[in-house]
Amino acid sequence: METKGKIVVTGGAGYIGSHAVVELFAAGYEPIIIDNFVNSQQSALEGIQAILHATVKCHPIDCTDIEALRGVFREEGSIVGVIHFAAYKAVGESVKEPLKYYHNNVGSLVALLQVMTEFNVNKLVFSSSCTVYGIPDQLPVTEATPVKKANSPYGNTKQICEDILSDLARSGGSTIYSIALRYFNPIGAHPSAKIGELPLGVPNNLVPFITQTAMGIREKLTVFGTDYDTPDGSNIRDYIHVVDLAKAHVVAVDRLVQNKGEQIEFFNIGTGRGNSVLEVIHTFEKVTGQKLNYVIGSRRPGDVPQIYADVTKSTQELGFKTELGLEEGLKSAWDWEVNLKNSNRQTV
Ligand code: WQD
Repeated sequence: METKGKIVVTGGAGYIGSHAVVELFAAGYEPIIIDNFVNSQQSALEGIQAILHATVKCHPIDCTDIEALRGVFREEGSIVGVIHFAAYKAVGESVKEPLKYYHNNVGSLVALLQVMTEFNVNKLVFSSSCTVYGIPDQLPVTEATPVKKANSPYGNTKQICEDILSDLARSGGSTIYSIALRYFNPIGAHPSAKIGELPLGVPNNLVPFITQTAMGIREKLTVFGTDYDTPDGSNIRDYIHVVDLAKAHVVAVDRLVQNKGEQIEFFNIGTGRGNSVLEVIHTFEKVTGQKLNYVIGSRRPGDVPQIYADVTKSTQELGFKTELGLEEGLKSAWDWEVNLKNSNRQTV
């Protein structure tokens, strides 16, 4: 079947990557996965196949291995563009192991850009994060909000990668056009419950910790502080359904294919709404009927008290708007957790 062309998806077996692969295929592209499976599982490929009724090609290589990358680009021939998800993303781990994060997150982007240049592949969507904003002075945050010194090596790697893309565009010597998508907080799973978040070990993030607590895998959830300057005292975040986030990547690829933008562009990808931790807990209980065992604990060091997106730019210039809300995100996260249990695939 004639497609719109090959899109290489690094980290394509990961949480957001796997959902992007499904949406790319549905949009008529031919996704080609690159993943070294250090933070993902082969079962994600089976889930993608079950949804698409088609096998998506996967190259099990490490993106910091430039020779292996060259081999993939050589084998695949004409490639329309790349979405670069592959990165480590645990904030706490990055504080303990900064070199691991700089080598992988920055090294993989540099290697990828070098190979893209060699093979004349000129369109890149980069997975960035609202963490580049640090603790914002104003809310909601716009793309013009000053990028502050990140409060973790993980966040710093995202800032460095954005700077690399900006410097490359400014050099005047590169034909690569990039779009950096600054994610807020991805949650939920594909409505089929065949792909979703697979945190290895104890989850760092709120929603998988909630679903594992409700499933009885974790004894209780600790709310990291209710003494913040927010309506109910708990932290506020912009929780975006992972399917909406995946669709934003297709919109970004389309924009690059149609040569519509500048050489480097940044977009906030969020809902534009903020919800507190306690609101998330109560909404989860409402939509799933599960009573959650939680306690109030002390603040988590490094936590941003409040952040949520101003989505004007992505709405007006990217033509992107989220369609799903917090309730769908939490219900799909629970359905996924139930499916993991039923298929004995929990990674605890
Ligand atoms: C959300 C809220 C916690 C766990 C990080 C990265 C970001 C992105 C998403 C990769 C906070 C509270 C959490 C718990 C809690 N990572 N919480 N109890 O920290 O906003 O963002 O993950 O792309 O770049 O910075 O997400 O889910 O860890 O926390 O009370 O057991 O839930 O305090 O307010 P965060 P999170």
